[in-house]
Amino acid sequence: MNSKRILLNGFSMNCVSHIQQGLWVRDDTRQVEYCTLDPWLELAQILEKGCFDALFLADVVGLYDAYLGGPETSIREGMQVPVNDPALLIPAMATVTEHLGFAFTSSVLQTPPFTFARQISTLDHLTKGRIAWNIVTSYLPNAGASLGYGGLPSHKERYERANEYLEVAYKLWEGSWEESAVLKNKEKGIYADPRKVHPINHSGTYYQCEGPHLSEPSLQRTPLLFQAGSSTDGRAFAAKHAECIFIVTSRRNLSGVQNIVSDIQTQAKKSGRSPDDLRFFQGLSPVVGGTEKEALAKEEEYLQQISTDASLAHLSGSLGIDLGNINPDKPLESFDSQAMQGVVKSMIESRPPGTRTFRDLIRAQMAGQFLTGTPEQIADNLETWSDAGVDGFNLVYSTTPGSFVDFVEGVVPELQKRGRVQRAYTPGTLREKLFGQPRLSERHPAASYRRS
Ligand SMILES: Cc1cc2nc3c(=O)[nH]c(=O)nc-3n(C[C@H](O)[C@H](O)[C@H](O)COP(=O)(O)O)c2cc1C
Repeated sequence: MNSKRILLNGFSMNCVSHIQQGLWVRDDTRQVEYCTLDPWLELAQILEKGCFDALFLADVVGLYDAYLGGPETSIREGMQVPVNDPALLIPAMATVTEHLGFAFTSSVLQTPPFTFARQISTLDHLTKGRIAWNIVTSYLPNAGASLGYGGLPSHKERYERANEYLEVAYKLWEGSWEESAVLKNKEKGIYADPRKVHPINHSGTYYQCEGPHLSEPSLQRTPLLFQAGSSTDGRAFAAKHAECIFIVTSRRNLSGVQNIVSDIQTQAKKSGRSPDDLRFFQGLSPVVGGTEKEALAKEEEYLQQISTDASLAHLSGSLGIDLGNINPDKPLESFDSQAMQGVVKSMIESRPPGTRTFRDLIRAQMAGQFLTGTPEQIADNLETWSDAGVDGFNLVYSTTPGSFVDFVEGVVPELQKRGRVQRAYTPGTLREKLFGQPRLSERHPAASYRRS
């Protein structure tokens, strides 16, 4: 047992149907209102009331079109399409909150690093340092095709690009504007000292960028860095760059998560970072009830309503395999996915006992998302994860904002009573709240681009 603070993120996406497919048709969820601001403002306020650390917004820049050979199922079921830009929600949500952080997903394939770095700096300014970036490398071939790559670059190339993308972004955020460059001297009419604003002159394999960075330094300079992707390359990337790592392993298998945590920590140590520089977040879907029976009845209702078709379209796109065509009774070992190796690997590594085939795995996936029970039972379970090495959770909704309201009203007070969740926010930027300092640690590779 330990008493470390459990970190909490709400997990959502600027679309109709994110993870639990088919539930958007219910009357008690606001998913179909995603194109309007009101549900987002409401959600942000609920999360802040519950002392959550951040709202974490997933994103994809393409269609899940692997299932049955096309995107029809995804489009019909609102399955991560239509999908709007997550970043554009943030300033509005920031105006109705004071402390909540905002982590949003952006793939290294979608925007040139120069443009993206400015977008992040702008958001970090407007939110007074509450921005985190979830770095992803994309896995949908349609994203690659629409973004002008003529299809999805190989897994290896995507991570090579990601490493160089980060190098460019670090040079812009950390190295372009000196700390004392901005003078705001009204008497002399000097806003900034041009001798202290530097071009970056990056010339690499994938990116050319002269610079300088167009934004002046924001409170965090480099945003808090999240990463999601757990293949061998993904873990190496996380160990090098990430401060927060989003993992999803089956909730029945704590050793799966421990393997990932210790693997990334070991790699981080080898590159001169400290395990203290990293926080691990597990994805979980709490279903809270006043009694266990009530909670189980709710879970059963959700399971009955989940759309198998849309779930298969989701999984097919994630794995890069058409599950409409495969034999679901083939042994798991016979699958070899290029598209999303990390997820296949961690799904297989953390499969519950007795899961031999894909059919077993899909069933286990659907039921395994839920963490169901009374607030006390859920708090017990979260403490078990925390004791196993997880620092926080990305909480997946079944209904929104209902699932978050239930958690904030039921589980948060229970965890606060146990001293595991904060009762109030500490001041400062998102990084200060999580790591006690506004800027990236000196041990992080970005620090090497700083000017003294
Ligand atoms: C828990 C988790 C969450 C992810 N969320 C997203 C996402 O929101 N958008 C996205 O494009 N990719 C997402 N990914 C995909 C990865 O970032 C990465 O692009 C993909 O998994 C391929 O890398 P990998 O083989 O290292 O896992 C996620 C991956 C994981 C494991």
